[in-house]
Amino acid sequence: MTERSPIRVLLIDDDPLFLKLFTSMLKRQGLDVTPCDDPIDGVARINPAHYDAAVVDYKMPGRTGAEVISDLRSRRPELVCIGLTGEGATNIAFSMLNAGAADYFEKPVQDMGRFLRVLTREIESSKVRAANEELQDALRDLRDVRGLSALVGNSPAMIAFKDQLVRFARSGKDVLVVGESGTGKELVASAIHLISGTNAPMLPVNMGGLNSNLIQSELFGHEAGSFVDAKARRKGVLETAGKGTVFLDEIGELPISDQANLLRALENRTFTRVGGSDIVRLHARVVAATNRDLELEVAERRFREDLLYRLNPLTLFVPPLRDRKEDISTLVYYFIDKYNSEFTKSIKRVEPEAMAALERHDWRRNNVRELRNTIMQAMVNCNSREEVLRIGRLKIDGKAPQVPVEVSIHTDSGESLPAPFDRALLNLPWKDAKESVVEQFAVWYLRSQLIRANFNITRAADLAGMQRSNFSAMMKSYGINLDDIKHQYIVRD
Ligand SMILES: Nc1ncnc2c1ncn2[C@@H]1O[C@H](COP(=O)(O)OP(=O)(O)OP(=O)(O)O)[C@@H](O)[C@H]1O
Ligand SMILES: [Mg+2]
Repeated sequence: MTERSPIRVLLIDDDPLFLKLFTSMLKRQGLDVTPCDDPIDGVARINPAHYDAAVVDYKMPGRTGAEVISDLRSRRPELVCIGLTGEGATNIAFSMLNAGAADYFEKPVQDMGRFLRVLTREIESSKVRAANEELQDALRDLRDVRGLSALVGNSPAMIAFKDQLVRFARSGKDVLVVGESGTGKELVASAIHLISGTNAPMLPVNMGGLNSNLIQSELFGHEAGSFVDAKARRKGVLETAGKGTVFLDEIGELPISDQANLLRALENRTFTRVGGSDIVRLHARVVAATNRDLELEVAERRFREDLLYRLNPLTLFVPPLRDRKEDISTLVYYFIDKYNSEFTKSIKRVEPEAMAALERHDWRRNNVRELRNTIMQAMVNCNSREEVLRIGRLKIDGKAPQVPVEVSIHTDSGESLPAPFDRALLNLPWKDAKESVVEQFAVWYLRSQLIRANFNITRAADLAGMQRSNFSAMMKSYGINLDDIKHQYIVRD
């Protein structure tokens, strides 16, 4: 272990005799002392960063000790200052303490033992305070990094966005998140919540598709008997979230009749449960999200202007993916890593042609979600040894992916059972697996009918027992392009 370095003390007094005596007394106690007899120029030349403490006399020519102390502490707030006063000079002592002195002693210092104890104690607690502040800063930075880590992308647009996100998150105020579908608004809300560093939960409520009674009771809770089904008191999310976050998703879909109550709660930070009169305090931060243009909603009288003004001072606009194309390759590899481990695949690289196509596409329909689904479907279709993701696997730019004809499924005992679908689908939740299969099936079905009908959409729709308009709408939604099929079909045959 290294020896503790001596305490570095700056001793400021215009009286040369006292300065000399007290310096040698302190030195004898093992302190590293620098004497200074000039409270103006001498102090100005000193770098307070080199000292742990300053011992300052009050009565000096041109400048009081209190002024010297506040000067030194403005340059180094953690510097411990001890004042020296004449006998019984209580008001002087107060002015030293007001200027930031930790304590004061009357001159001459009689009780050297107490002086040293006070000095070391104050230096120790100043160090603990500084270390705590550093720790708090480090923790805060760590929370920011953790909070932001789920938001993949370091394009200039995303860097600027994350910077603003952190500032808004630290403000503790309600935030409105606006962005197209699939841009990551929910991830943004979680990032804000994580950065706030609260242990309380983030509770999401989707405003879309709930009727008015349900919304009111979800948000504010209800008292027993407040409506037919209200058998017991129930707390709403604004109450149960405590000091956490309430995420109001699809705020643009909140019926206009329910908006006034929400506005009141946000403004007063209090509300009452449905059917109740107790005042409940709102401690939680509210993060609202929408993919609608709320100004337009206000103009069309579907959204209250006062609620918009209440929400919009801190608005985060999530940039659409087409405005940050630099993020596409990062996101592609992020999703490849994710699905390599979820589906036990081994994709290591993306064929340049495939990456170019991914970067060219504008992802207008569903932004990052659309990119994620494209990569997910492509990887479901890859076999487990494929190392390169090839363009033929991707369903973008209106091209259909290559669908595997037949794959086998293994039981836990290693038996191989014939199965029409890739085993990797079993790693997906039902909804995503079904979506992926339905999409593959739809692409196969529509393409096959078109081929059977010799590329005549009206006849293909007939074969499918569908209206022509529905058939072509489905072709459009599954990205089926007649010319592509003709081309592929004719080339292949
Ligand atoms: N920057 C990103 N990094 C990683 N994943 C992302 C990013 N942005 C979005 N995603 C992923 O894309 C999907 C859609 O994101 P999310 O649900 O947050 O979008 P949204 O803006 O809320 O969409 P919607 O308006 O449809 O509700 C999620 O799977 C999410 O994890
Ligand atoms: Mg969402």
